[in-house]
Amino acid sequence: MRPRNPILLAALFSVVFLGFAGFGPAQTSQKKAPQTRWEAKSYSQFLEIPGAERLGSDQCQACHEASYKSIHHAAHGLRKLDCEDCHGNGSLHPGSKDYKEIIQFRERTAEQANGVCLSCHARNEGLLNWQSGRHASQNVKCIDCHQVHAAETKLATFQESNAKCESCHHKQAAQSKLPYHHPTREGKMACADCHDPHGGAAANNLRGDSVNQLCFQCHTEYEGPFTYQHAPVVENCTKCHTSHGSVNRSLLTVSQPMLCLQCHAAHHNGAGIPLLNQCTSCHSAIHGSDVPSATGGSVFIDKP
Ligand code: HEC
Ligand code: HEC
Ligand code: HEC
Ligand code: HEC
Ligand code: HEC
Ligand code: HEC
Ligand code: HEC
Ligand code: HEC
Ligand code: HEC
Ligand code: HEC
Repeated sequence: MRPRNPILLAALFSVVFLGFAGFGPAQTSQKKAPQTRWEAKSYSQFLEIPGAERLGSDQCQACHEASYKSIHHAAHGLRKLDCEDCHGNGSLHPGSKDYKEIIQFRERTAEQANGVCLSCHARNEGLLNWQSGRHASQNVKCIDCHQVHAAETKLATFQESNAKCESCHHKQAAQSKLPYHHPTREGKMACADCHDPHGGAAANNLRGDSVNQLCFQCHTEYEGPFTYQHAPVVENCTKCHTSHGSVNRSLLTVSQPMLCLQCHAAHHNGAGIPLLNQCTSCHSAIHGSDVPSATGGSVFIDKP
């Protein structure tokens, strides 16, 4: 990228001086960072249009009034980015026969299209895992989720954000329509509350070091530590719960008593009546307890 526009230069400089080095073009940043295969790569190559010079946004406006207007309502326009910061230098484009000498994101491969976005965003903290994530390796484009010419570049509402995810992830979309589900469908929660769409260190891009660490972010009451722990709870919440939706109350993988009978034998009360219904009507502290039973230990009868 060769910014000639003084406003753009000023904008980039102020951004760098304010410490947001993430938004400088990747190849000029002096920030020390591990040289991974991808960081070593100069994303600016994805902006190059051989032989083209910069025209300036005013020229583009003359023929693309609608796009000019829309970007100026969006985050990038408000940050005074030029058209050519994303579409490449434009001088060959109006003169060319088929108007092809310009960057068209839909026509490009994912690597080429995303490369343009990453020329500025590669060092955003939130995007550091992008290249190692499944979305990158499966050729998902930034613009599959972000509409940069729309009024909101960021996915502003949970509904909007979840609809994007569900347009590709049909299985989870169907599960979220089951009677018991996290309130993604109601727009009270985002798929992205649990998953980082930009990739992540944990499996399934979970926003936590493990499944349980993720769940505890919102369900803190089950974190304990309890004097008497229930082994499967400590191990993994998904031993008993699904995340995306279930026909069973409380998002249980299997309904009671079968849930418990997968690991335990049924038992009788003193009068020899089998207790084959809702095990947790007695074992209500199933996630752990600090209250010992009469016989010592705990059978998770009393909530702490
Ligand atoms: C003289 C008029 C003219 C100028 C100046 C001009 N364009 Fe275009 N541009 C066109 C025409 C005509 C097309 C082809 C229209 C179509 O296919 O819908 C086009 C196509 C495009 C496309 C592809 C549209 C698509 O549907 O994928 C982009 C992107 C684009 N121009 C961006 C720019 C940018 C950025 C500038 C400024 C550097 C610019 N244009 C300057 C006339 C112009
Ligand atoms: C932040 C990067 C960025 C900036 C800045 C930007 N564009 Fe775009 N533009 C895009 C992307 C990405 C698309 C593809 C949108 C899509 O297909 O969803 C696009 C699409 C277009 C199109 C095709 C029609 C459409 O809306 O799909 C035209 C024409 C266009 N841009 C012109 C411009 C002009 C003119 C400017 C400056 C006033 C500009 N763009 C600034 C990224 C940018
Ligand atoms: C020339 C540099 C540059 C390019 C290229 C660029 N961006 Fe940005 N982008 C910025 C800056 C600067 C901001 C504002 C930073 C902020 O909000 O903190 C921004 C903000 C954003 C935001 C946050 C918007 C918000 O509402 O907070 C998203 C999402 C985004 N860009 C996506 C993209 C995508 C997708 C592309 C490629 C089509 C792209 N950007 C290309 C510089 C760029
Ligand atoms: C699978 C959907 C998806 C894809 C693909 C995606 N994003 Fe995002 N992006 C989101 C969502 C959802 C948010 C808002 C939630 C958040 O902050 O993580 C977001 C937020 C952002 C933000 C603002 C917050 C931040 O982390 O700075 C930027 C910038 C951004 N994305 C850039 C990009 C770029 C660049 C790409 C391509 C390399 C990309 N995104 C690909 C879904 C996506
Ligand atoms: C354009 C299609 C597309 C969109 C939109 C999309 N994804 Fe994906 N996603 C994929 C593909 C393809 C894969 C890899 C194949 C698979 O695992 O299903 C994937 C994989 C995943 C994985 C598994 C990651 C791993 O490490 O195994 C998660 C989690 C995920 N996506 C979450 C999301 C979320 C959350 C959103 C919305 C913010 C989203 N996706 C939007 C296409 C998409
Ligand atoms: C409450 C947290 C949570 C929410 C909300 C959530 N997920 Fe997940 N997701 C998980 C966990 C945990 C896993 C790991 C697999 C498992 O054990 O269920 C996972 C796995 C996945 C996978 C990879 C596994 C597979 O079966 O392919 C995809 C794709 C995915 N989720 C997409 C989504 C989408 C799309 C949404 C929104 C409709 C969503 N998730 C909402 C927690 C969540
Ligand atoms: C970002 C916050 C968040 C995270 C992370 C989260 N949850 Fe939830 N969970 C909620 C909300 C919100 C509800 C709905 C509460 C309500 O309706 O009163 C809920 C409800 C539930 C319910 C009760 C559902 C019902 O039908 O009664 C279970 C069980 C549950 N979550 C398990 C989990 C598990 C297991 C994890 C980890 C994989 C997890 N949650 C991660 C926010 C979260
Ligand atoms: C051994 C199976 C099992 C494991 C493992 C388990 N749960 Fe549960 N959970 C249950 C049962 C059974 C219920 C329903 C309790 C009832 O109906 O009285 C429940 C209910 C819940 C509820 C809903 C409570 C309400 O008031 O509606 C939440 C939230 C929850 N569990 C979160 C978690 C979290 C977080 C983990 C991991 C730390 C976890 N569970 C691990 C069996 C389990
Ligand atoms: C994935 C297997 C698994 C599931 C499902 C499971 N448990 Fe457990 N449970 C264990 C293990 C392992 C222990 C600890 C080892 C032991 O003492 O038997 C335990 C311990 C217990 C204890 C204490 C036993 C004692 O002798 O002190 C009770 C009571 C109990 N579970 C009840 C339940 C109930 C009720 C459910 C269903 C809501 C359930 N468990 C679901 C594996 C499971
Ligand atoms: C009416 C209340 C009640 C119901 C319903 C109930 N339990 Fe119990 N359970 C108890 C009591 C009380 C103890 C403690 C017995 C003792 O200490 O001698 C106990 C003990 C246990 C133990 C510890 C080992 C043992 O056999 O003493 C396990 C495991 C257990 N229950 C599993 C279950 C399962 C699985 C279900 C559902 C199929 C269930 N319970 C239903 C009251 C109940």
